[in-house]
Amino acid sequence: MFPQYQDIVFEELKKVFPDVEHFEVEYADLQKLEYLDRVLNETLRIIPPVPTVSRDLIEVIRLSNNVLVPKGVSFVVDIFHIHRNKEYWGPNAETFNPDNFLADNVRGRHPYAFLPFSKGRRNCIGWKYALLLSKIALAKILRNYRISTDFRYEDLVFIDGVITKLRKSPLLRFQRRTSK
Ligand code: HEM
Repeated sequence: MFPQYQDIVFEELKKVFPDVEHFEVEYADLQKLEYLDRVLNETLRIIPPVPTVSRDLIEVIRLSNNVLVPKGVSFVVDIFHIHRNKEYWGPNAETFNPDNFLADNVRGRHPYAFLPFSKGRRNCIGWKYALLLSKIALAKILRNYRISTDFRYEDLVFIDGVITKLRKSPLLRFQRRTSK
């Protein structure tokens, strides 16, 4: 949906993997894929695969606004909407923009504004593995194919659930890259 960002990812991949025919993705290569990292993070922000997490309070807690929440209460952390909260992400919070993850922009942001893997003691045990796996797969695919779709970002409709689902999944077109 955003070919301009895909093109930047492709240029970065070409630099790190100049030989398109045979390339293995090493851990050290992944550290060089700075733009891919930003695109992946921005995707996890706009479409967090786990949109909410729930907790039962085993003791009373005081929120930052001084509200006391009693023991025994169940509550839901709304990751999906925290990720689109203008207070943290600015007036264009609904727009897909990998620059949201430029180091300078991340630095000043609330540490809990981005929670795709939750936070704290019961956060995702597989978060690092998930990121590495996604980046390896994306590097392999995007180095070799241009992906496009007629679907528009504005037309994505999200369905509430334990994991994020789309009312209609966009059909994708894969076109082999000819440029070496
Ligand atoms: C993009 C991929 C993934 C996302 C977005 C994700 C997200 C999350 C989130 C938000 C939680 C907290 C759930 C809650 O508290 O209700 C969680 C927990 C967990 N995840 Fe993931 N996860 C991903 C991939 C993985 C993978 C690859 C593994 C295993 C290899 C994994 C294993 C776990 C486990 C075991 C927990 C429970 C941890 C606990 O309660 O102590 N996840 N994940």
